[in-house]
Amino acid sequence: MPTATTLRQPQTIPQSRLPATVERVPRPPAVGRAVSLAFLRWEKRALPETERFWRDFGFAIASATAECIVARGTAASPCIAVATRGAVDRFVGPAFLMADDTDLAAYEGAFGGRWLDDAQLPGGGRGIEVIDPAGRPVWLLQHQAEALPLPNRAPVSPLTNTAVHAPRINAPVRTPIEAARVVRLGHLVLQTADFAGMAQWYMRVLGLIPTDVQYLADGSPALAFMRLDLRDTPADHHTLVLVGALDEKYEHSAYEVVDLDALGQGQQVLRAQGWRHLWGIGRHVLGSQLFDYWRDPDGFEYEHYTDGDLFTADAETGYTPLEFGSLWAWGADAPASLKPPKNLRTLLRIVRLLREKRITLQRLKLLAQAMDAPARPWS
Ligand SMILES: [Fe+2]
Repeated sequence: MPTATTLRQPQTIPQSRLPATVERVPRPPAVGRAVSLAFLRWEKRALPETERFWRDFGFAIASATAECIVARGTAASPCIAVATRGAVDRFVGPAFLMADDTDLAAYEGAFGGRWLDDAQLPGGGRGIEVIDPAGRPVWLLQHQAEALPLPNRAPVSPLTNTAVHAPRINAPVRTPIEAARVVRLGHLVLQTADFAGMAQWYMRVLGLIPTDVQYLADGSPALAFMRLDLRDTPADHHTLVLVGALDEKYEHSAYEVVDLDALGQGQQVLRAQGWRHLWGIGRHVLGSQLFDYWRDPDGFEYEHYTDGDLFTADAETGYTPLEFGSLWAWGADAPASLKPPKNLRTLLRIVRLLREKRITLQRLKLLAQAMDAPARPWS
């Protein structure tokens, strides 16, 4: 019989107390400073299905034509997602809003930046496109106009009755049956076979700070939760996550909703509309968010979240061993589909990575060991 003692919490060590056996993620000098993840760009063969999912997921549609859909949240950002009609269903790339004191022209030379046509930019402003080491276009924007916020209900959380504090008297909780209205785009998670190279590139380009790093059994980093450098202003625990894996791939993107009841009620609406649920509701360990994961019509993962951690720029980086079970503190068990499938395609991919010397057999073994460790006593 499993007992409570067989449950484990991952141990996080601050960088200043890290043993020599764990490799640090060096933070390079930054060219500029991102202040928000503005929006994500998609190409889709069937725009109406994507629009239907976006509405049920709680996006507000800012504009929709036969060629392009622009979506926003209830906060002041004019756009959180853009889908254009194309030949394949794919994630194109992220757009970041850069600080006013960042010199976008600095990306022209070494980074091969290409100025964008202002008319392409939802919300206006100006921007430059750079290409990340995986070949993905990343837009860096400035002077994007804010939109008027859209209505949203007040969070019920301040009136949560607990055993020690009961502010909600003569007032039941009856949140409306409606999609979980998305407030804003929170973070993007990318898989990469070149974890070190991608981490260095994104830190240099965007000035990101590693909040939490996860490492393999040999002490080498394989996952980084990175936050924006907003100086004294608290920033989300992570805005970009890089996950060491076998592919250069979109993993998921996450959208903040107003509270836990929006997350739960939103799940009911998505279920009623027949969308594919992936994982949740639960609480993450690193970042602490209450989460619920869904798949869009083309199988791409989307996350609703609320109650995430915030850190100022001076908070120290933490290091935690990487294990599949360290993804969540409690809640539904993570589905095996979050791991690389054990099929012929994966095998061929591994052979190619080994032949191109982009990964070693030892690292593959350690990644498999981290992913295959039993997540829970019952799993
Ligand atoms: Fe997430």
